[in-house]
Amino acid sequence: MESMPSWALALTYWIHMLATVLWLGSLASLSLLVLPALQKVDAKSQSILLAAIQKRLDPLGWFSLALLLATGMFQMSANANYEGFLAISGQWASSILVKHIFFGLMIVVSAAQTWWLLPTMQRAMLRQQKNGDVAEVEALQKREALLLNLNLILAILILGMTALARAA
Ligand code: HEM
Repeated sequence: MESMPSWALALTYWIHMLATVLWLGSLASLSLLVLPALQKVDAKSQSILLAAIQKRLDPLGWFSLALLLATGMFQMSANANYEGFLAISGQWASSILVKHIFFGLMIVVSAAQTWWLLPTMQRAMLRQQKNGDVAEVEALQKREALLLNLNLILAILILGMTALARAA
């Protein structure tokens, strides 16, 4: 992999950074801008808006995740510090290892959103339309905000680990 031409390596770095901006940027704007702004509208509009945003964010997140994983593998094996899959000596390798652990946690949080929270929320919203009871949807929205913030914090930690690797 040392022989990877520099244009190809540059391309993977570019895609890695684009996916970072796309996904983390969306998470940050959702947590820091959209969720607080949603407090200004009534509960029903809140859930409709949030559901519409999640519907777009969800595939975007998985797409970015796949891109980060694929390009990250090339970057790793092209890196002069890389000494093998399970070699974890030195600051570079340990930072990258911790980065992978946080990355794994982001996958777990995203999976919980995609396969548990979003479908549960959809069913709750249907029930709300029938019986007008907003309590269940509101409770789920709190959990949704929690998972979103958790993913944002993990993403910030991942960038910190990347910074440590770069400085190694
Ligand atoms: C949410 C997930 C991830 C984010 C936000 C992220 C972000 C970044 C950023 C911003 C850089 C710096 C790019 C540069 O300086 O040119 C980077 C570098 C890197 N990333 Fe990731 N990345 C993620 C996942 C991964 C994964 C899954 C892998 C490996 C399979 C990986 C491997 C690497 C490597 C090896 C570098 C180069 C480190 C160095 O220069 O020493 N990344 N990443």
